[in-house]
Order: sequence, then structure tokens, then C-alpha cells
Amino acid sequence: MAQREQWGSRTGFVLAAVGSAIGLGNIWRFPYMAYENGGGAFLIPYIFALLTAGIPFMILEFGMGHKYRGSAPKVFRRLGSGREFLGWMQVVVALVISIYYVAVIGWTINYTGFALNQAWGSDPKAFFFGDYLGLTGSPFELGGIRWSILGACTLAWGVTWLAITSGVRKGIERACKILIPTLFLLVLVLIARVVTLPGAMTGLDFLFRPDFSKLTDFTVWADAYGQIFFSLSIGFSIMLAYSSYLPKDADINNNAAMTVFINCGFSLLAGVMIFSVLGNMAHATGQAVSDVAGAGVGLAFITIPAAINTMPAPVFVGTLFFLCLTMAGVSSHISIVEAVSSSFIDKFGISRKRTATLVCGFGFLATVIFTTGGGLLILDIVDHFINNLCILGLALAEILLMSWIVGLEDIQKHVNASSDFSVGNAWKLCLKLVTVGVLGYSFVMNVVTDLG
Ligand code: PHE
Ligand code: NA
Repeated sequence: MAQREQWGSRTGFVLAAVGSAIGLGNIWRFPYMAYENGGGAFLIPYIFALLTAGIPFMILEFGMGHKYRGSAPKVFRRLGSGREFLGWMQVVVALVISIYYVAVIGWTINYTGFALNQAWGSDPKAFFFGDYLGLTGSPFELGGIRWSILGACTLAWGVTWLAITSGVRKGIERACKILIPTLFLLVLVLIARVVTLPGAMTGLDFLFRPDFSKLTDFTVWADAYGQIFFSLSIGFSIMLAYSSYLPKDADINNNAAMTVFINCGFSLLAGVMIFSVLGNMAHATGQAVSDVAGAGVGLAFITIPAAINTMPAPVFVGTLFFLCLTMAGVSSHISIVEAVSSSFIDKFGISRKRTATLVCGFGFLATVIFTTGGGLLILDIVDHFINNLCILGLALAEILLMSWIVGLEDIQKHVNASSDFSVGNAWKLCLKLVTVGVLGYSFVMNVVTDLG
């Protein structure tokens, strides 16, 4: 059997893992979460979640992929015969995400072009839903393909295909070595521009002013943990695949901590960027920051364009902003598709080229439905289901299996063998109790809310 592919360097691996972690979620979800949950006070549960769940879980996943040298189904098969199924469920979820995540990347690509002349005009909301998406009234009414969206999605799938076919080192690692440093640079340039705008400080004050009364609200804590899992791409096969390509002597614990801290640092930078822009918009329109702040799709494609309209350097800020979203999105997309592809390669021994073409070809065809006038409505439904139930449920199944059934001792020994710092009982406690508890609570709450 051919030897498993390997990352070319430690930096290459960390950049790829960070590339997966930093995504659309850091730029629009984190700032909104922080804002909703008490501004600066959110940082307390967030950092707590990062230390008690993010880093421990990341060490576990890196350790599993590294020790058992495989994608999710292979890793779980090695842990016991009936368990391969869990790996395949994670792969299915990854495949579904890869299909609709790319639609949003398509929008960011189109908007990078629109930003050149503020093609969204004076009413970005009407433009986004009407002229651009051609939104129909119902998910059952497709209303035809939007060709510019399909074109952009084709481009995004093409880039992902190219990265995956070219291999771990020549494709994925090389892409992330370009994308991630450029992304950090562009965000810093953007921040340098927007923090000096009038009103920016009001926006930042709004984001960081702590509202400690929120800390007694358990949902704030659950939100912080949810954000950590989604943002770190843990619990659904991605980090397992990436860490399976690490050389034997890799320092797992250190790599995991580094990945988590860089991702968190980027989230804070994104928060500073977004809230400076919102503060400036509030200043220009005479509104309160709380009235202009929005979330999700609305934040990136309606609020930010509206804010850009009122800005002194709209073309510069606008194109850079959407370019950043595009780069963050593409590097995450590559990781989701690699998780799926590596599972097929491991299981069926099909060549990387052929697998990538099959997975990307199928994914591309399925993406077409999200480029229609009903696309956003379908996307909302699928995304809600995936985020609130599938990711949480599968992460919970994985952590229950590892910490209560299989036991953490083997992985603990494995990760400590080649790492600068060792993990001990605190690490096990965080996984067995804290992570299981919070995931379990959030999952049950979500099931109850969705059924109710
Ligand atoms: N971690 C990514 C983000 O924060 C999201 C992601 C989801 C990445 C699914 C890979 C797979 O946006
Ligand atoms: Na990314």
C-alpha cells in the first residue's frame, strides 16, 4: 500500500487547520454572538469555553487522526467494528455543508465585484433579496437559476477541486499558505482604515462594554460553547482527516492550542473590523449602534453594503471586505471537501484525482438548487437543521464514545509522547464532564425547541 500523504511542514499543517477553522462564521457569526450576549461579557464564557472544550476537544481530534491515521470512518472502524457508521454520518453532514456553504461563497465572490461600483445601489436590502437572489416566496418555488450565482459557485468548486486533486502538500497546504497570511494582512489593513472613521469608537465600545448581568443566563454559556465547536470545525470529520497527514513525531498538543488561539484571535479582529464599520454607519445616519447591528446573511450582504455606502473610501473597504470573506470561505470549503474525499479514498482505494472529481462533480450539481430563487429559503432550513441538530449530535456521540466507552487513556498517552506539554486529569475532566454536559444540554434544548 502506498504511504499516506504528509504535510510538508508544521506551519503548513497549522495554516491548513486554521484555514478550516477561520471561515464565514468568524466574520459574521462571532461579532453578532458577542453583541447579542452582552458585548464584552461574552468574552468570559467564550474564553472559558475555549479552554475547557475547544482546546481539549481539538487535542482529542488531532490525537485520534494522528494515532489511527485515517479519515473519520477509518478512525472509528479501528475503535470497534460497529462504530464506522458514526464516521460515515459525519461525512454525510460534511458533504451537505460543502454543498450549501459554497453558495454563500458564491455570493461573496459576486459581491466582491459589486463593491467596485456599489452595484447594490441605495437600497442594499431590496437589491440583495430582489435583484440579486430573485427570492421567491417559498422554498418549494424555485423560480429559475440565477446565472451569476451559479457562475461564482462554479468558480469556487473549481478552486476546491484543484486544491484537492493536487494533493495534501501541493494542493491544500499550498492554497492555505497563500490564503491565510493574505487574509490576516487584508484584515489588518481594513482595520487600520476603519478604526479611524468617525463613530468607530462608539461601535467598539458597544462590542466590548461588558454587560455582566448576562453571565447568569445559561443560554449565553451554551451559545459560547456552540460558537466554539462550529468555529473550530470539530466534531464532524474535518480535523480528523487533516491530522491524519501529520508526520509521526508531530507535537499534537501544541499544534492544537496554536490552532485554537489563532482562530480566536482572528475572531476578535473580525469583531473590531465589523463594529468599527457599524459604529461609523450609526454615526453617519444618526442611529444607535444597536439599531444597525444585524446578523448572519443580513449583516454581510445588507448591513455592510449599506455602511459602505456612507463611507469615504467605499471601493477600497468594500472589495477588501468581500475578498476576505471569500478567502476565509474557500479555505474552509477545501477542508470540508477533503474530509469527504479522504474517507472515500481510505475506504475504496480510489485515486485522489478520481475521488475529487466525483465528489466535486456531485457537490456542484447539488449546489445548483441553492442558486435558484428559492435557494436562500432552502439554505436557511438546511443550515438550521445541520447547525442545531446534526453537528451537535455527532460531536456529542463522538465525545461520549471516546470519553465514556473507549476511554481517553490511549489517546492521552499518544498525544503526550511527542508534545511540549502534557495533558492530564484536567483534560479528561473537561472532556468527560464539561464538554459532554454542555453539548448534551444544548442538543436536548435544541431538540425540544424544534419539536415544540
Ligand atoms: N469553522 C468554519 C467557520 O467558522 C465553519 C466551517 C463549517 C468550516 C463547516 C468547515 C466546515 O466558518
Ligand atoms: Na477558512
